Amino acid sequence: MTNEIVDTYLSGEQVLARIDELAQAVMALGPFDKPLVVVCVLKGSFMFFSDLVRRVDLPLNCVFLGVSSYGGTTESSGAVRLTHDLTLDIANRDVLVVEDIVDTGLTMSYLLGILQARNPKSLRVCTMLHKPARKKVEVALDLVGFVIDDVFVVGYGLDYDERYRNLPFIGAMRFDDHPAS
Ligand code: IMP
Repeated sequence: MTNEIVDTYLSGEQVLARIDELAQAVMALGPFDKPLVVVCVLKGSFMFFSDLVRRVDLPLNCVFLGVSSYGGTTESSGAVRLTHDLTLDIANRDVLVVEDIVDTGLTMSYLLGILQARNPKSLRVCTMLHKPARKKVEVALDLVGFVIDDVFVVGYGLDYDERYRNLPFIGAMRFDDHPAS
């Protein structure tokens, strides 16, 4: 039998303190001539996105983009599927993509390709976590919450097999194998 064990990696307080700083950094990007379009990449960034945007004192348009993620595994397949498209035309708009984690970079590279093709005025990325050890493609990240080790993290929106998204902190996941008795 395999037990899933989640150790605290970043506390909820640490995450929120860093989001305060990131929100200030987002405000420093402005002012913009039209509301900044902030893209929530579903599902993983829903909690980070909502804590970030409520701290940004700028006119914003909040929009949602769904992409497929890991299904019950901790390895990236490299295959990325769009499950929900934006409901706003971003042509000639300032756009900030808000992501939970950049791991291999494959997902973000794919998303930036799609969004850039729609001719935004500017396109920036804010990620809560960056795991550079597993990088497969280079992606320019404008704002990064935390650079983390090569650990599989859950909580604060991030899942393992669609569980743990609701944890109010970021945990490092490990598996403890016990022979069945
Ligand atoms: P990438 O394409 O390898 O950069 O991975 C991006 C996506 O994989 C993220 O948006 C997450 O949904 C998922 N992911 C990558 N690393 C982790 C992790 O440590 N925990 C949970 N999900 C992860």
